Amino acid sequence: MSNTVVMGAQWGDEGKGKIVDLLTERADAIVRFQGGNNAGHTLVVGGKKLILHLIPSGILHPGKVCMIGNGVVLDPEVFLREVDALSEKNVDAAPERLKIACRAHIIMPYHRSLDMAREAAKEAGKIGTTGRGIGPCYEDKMSRIGIRASDLLDLSLVREKTAAALVEKNALFRLYGQPEMSVEAVMAWIEPLAARIAPYIQDVPAIIEQCTKADKPVLFEGAQGTHLDIDHGTYPFVTSSNTVSGNAAAGSGCAPDKLHGVVAVVKAYTTRVGAGPFPTELSDATGDYLVEKGAEFGATTGRRRRCGWLDIVILRESARLNGPTGIALTKLDVLTSLPELKICTAYVFEGRTIQYPPQGQGALGRVTPVYETLPGWSEDISGAVRFEELPANCQTYVRRIEELLGTPASIVSVGPGREQTIIR
Ligand code: GDP
Ligand code: IMO
Ligand code: MG
Repeated sequence: MSNTVVMGAQWGDEGKGKIVDLLTERADAIVRFQGGNNAGHTLVVGGKKLILHLIPSGILHPGKVCMIGNGVVLDPEVFLREVDALSEKNVDAAPERLKIACRAHIIMPYHRSLDMAREAAKEAGKIGTTGRGIGPCYEDKMSRIGIRASDLLDLSLVREKTAAALVEKNALFRLYGQPEMSVEAVMAWIEPLAARIAPYIQDVPAIIEQCTKADKPVLFEGAQGTHLDIDHGTYPFVTSSNTVSGNAAAGSGCAPDKLHGVVAVVKAYTTRVGAGPFPTELSDATGDYLVEKGAEFGATTGRRRRCGWLDIVILRESARLNGPTGIALTKLDVLTSLPELKICTAYVFEGRTIQYPPQGQGALGRVTPVYETLPGWSEDISGAVRFEELPANCQTYVRRIEELLGTPASIVSVGPGREQTIIR
């Protein structure tokens, strides 16, 4: 297998974790390249469920190297909690196989507090962030005042940067009526964490280079989804990083020619957590059915996910932005028993029929979806292992998606389990 990027094509929670876990079998190393513990990637192996927020979804495969790239924002407390939870399950999460890039930025307690204070203060226009401090940490990175993983090896530097950051942050806490933070309190928090994290901090770009030189396949694990991308998503209702496939290179520290293929993970319908436009959203019994049958509750915050029909228009834009060589179509089993299925193939916007989302802020909230209707199926498909075993109407649904997007569904997922997958 060549080096492959796995990324979400919609608004997150497409099933990236399952697909990365599956493809890890054919890779030697796995790298997360953006986002932080706003992600919740669920793996179901041998009937047991594990949710990872920060550590790459390849960790359950012994011997594979898992890396957290420079493009990630890392909360050290969450990282160590995840390491401990894995160790309790006898999963090896030692620094010999789990690495944090020196240049990854660190989420500090004042980032979390600021994220929550800002959201709480908004009367209208709440984004519905995960409250994990993601936005404020990326802000500090861009403002060139962030604390990076390698800084944790020199606590005097962390103290100096924290003191400087808190001058501004405390002014904001006063503005929002929140308690101020002291340098001492932050240092008391970080010191024990830094000591434990130190051995994990390594030269990730050098390890990726060693892999590529030795023809050892690397898997790049995306978080969130294309329409949560800071540039290309439904701004301002987005996350604070570039989620598109191109960022796999910059966010992990390799050249773009090392990315050989892109697997776009596409849920067979659409979901979204948090605020923002969602043209095919269903606020009716079918929407409730998808929530229930698809267990559509957030893996990070437990929030109910908004559900709707498959939207080819946003997927068309995803294809344009990510260049998928294949699609992993997930949660097809959730659609079983619906008498008919709708696919949105275009929008009507300001009297015109359009094939791509309009580009202006908020314009996506003013489109009307154009649907085509396909017949459903009632047979249980959760045990299917070959495409030909799927009911005819189910095959037609998959083929129609392939046709509309011009990309093969090389992986079709029919249940949460690792084995509930059709590889074509
Ligand atoms: P991610 O953030 O993209 O990794 O996705 P999440 O883990 O947040 O959400 C996907 C959910 O769907 C998880 O609970 C998975 O276990 C589950 N899942 C993944 N693939 C399938 C599938 O084909 N069928 C069903 N029924 N569930 C699936
Ligand atoms: P995975 O990797 C779904 C959403 C939040 C909110 C917006 C901004 O599991 O697919 P943030 O905390 O990032 O500043 O919140 O982005 N969001 C996600 N939605 N899946 C995710 O990750 C998400 N990560 C962030 O709900 O609307
Ligand atoms: Mg998720």
